[in-house]
Amino acid sequence: MFITFEGIEGSGKSTQIQLLKEFFEKKAQKAFFTKEPGSSEVGKKIRSVLLNKENKIFPQTEIFLIFADRVQHVQEIIKPNINEGKIVISDRYYDSSIAYQGQREGVDKTEIYELINMLDLPTPDITFLLDLPVDIGLKRAKNRASLDRFESEEISFHEAVRQNYLDLQEQNLERIVKIDALQTPDEIFSNILKKIKIE
Ligand code: TYD
Repeated sequence: MFITFEGIEGSGKSTQIQLLKEFFEKKAQKAFFTKEPGSSEVGKKIRSVLLNKENKIFPQTEIFLIFADRVQHVQEIIKPNINEGKIVISDRYYDSSIAYQGQREGVDKTEIYELINMLDLPTPDITFLLDLPVDIGLKRAKNRASLDRFESEEISFHEAVRQNYLDLQEQNLERIVKIDALQTPDEIFSNILKKIKIE
């Protein structure tokens, strides 16, 4: 099984992923937790280029860097772990590219879909979209460490990302589960468990 988590900055993905980790540990369920960008060896280098605020990166460059990271991640980490029968949980995956890169200037979302198809990337069995208003998410993110290249974008950028996620969810009702991220962490987690259907 392949599960992904998506959402804007400050949507609480990490808290939920941590709860899921503890849940699977208690159940002695074989699970593997990973994230994008930057989980593979090469990906770590790509991540530092992508997140560094000093770098001026053109939209198409950004897309290719993210997908270069993703190919390494899928080949080195995601596929082998799925093949070993583990539940693989990724903090972000290709929906992030549609949501974030899909609204960069001059980028047509169909280009991103073409890349996804061309690279034959596994489709998640279930994706949790943690949704909340951008101002609240950004406030949470700003209370954490210093802001990276994405977090430093204007509020309008983040609004567009959120809208892209909502559109994606409506187009993929079978796969993407939208969760109100304004609920308490426990409430959110119980929604997640109901959907995963692990006793
Ligand atoms: P990260 O520090 O991993 O944090 P978080 O997932 O908690 O936000 O930041 C990764 C950043 O990369 C995030 O701001 C979104 C961005 N990103 C994309 O723009 N496209 C992508 O396809 C992925 C995977 C991430």
